[in-house]
Amino acid sequence: MPSFRFKRRVRDHLVEAARRAMKNAYAPYSKFRVGAALLTTDGAVVTGCNVENASYGATNCAERTAIFSAVAQLGPQMKVEAIAVVNGRNAPCSPCGICRQVIYEFGPHAMVLFRGVKGWKTAPIEKLLPEGFRLK
Ligand code: THU
Repeated sequence: MPSFRFKRRVRDHLVEAARRAMKNAYAPYSKFRVGAALLTTDGAVVTGCNVENASYGATNCAERTAIFSAVAQLGPQMKVEAIAVVNGRNAPCSPCGICRQVIYEFGPHAMVLFRGVKGWKTAPIEKLLPEGFRLK
């Protein structure tokens, strides 16, 4: 069961941090700028943006940039409590399949805030990624 619900103050803080991170997006190919901000179970906030590549498959989504940065900055024991995702078009943008698996690895109960078809949506990662893969 998700132990975390977005309190308005936390949600606003994460969305604001994600918007700031979005300004650093490198998206010359899709022109679709994305920012993400995660909250760890220890209360740290770490952000990321999408970083594209001429070899399109080498692109890194904002969510994974944030998570990999958090591991690099805080260490591999870091756990994600919540992650917010924003984009420059206010378009529906839920995390892709690869990002769902990565969120699950570091936050098996993480709450995810993103733009759904009908506006902001929050969902626990277990709902976005049922039966996520674990190697133990
Ligand atoms: N993208 C993200 O950064 N996060 C998402 O949740 C969806 C897609 C990026 C990847 C690529 O740079 C661009 O958006 C278009 O797919």
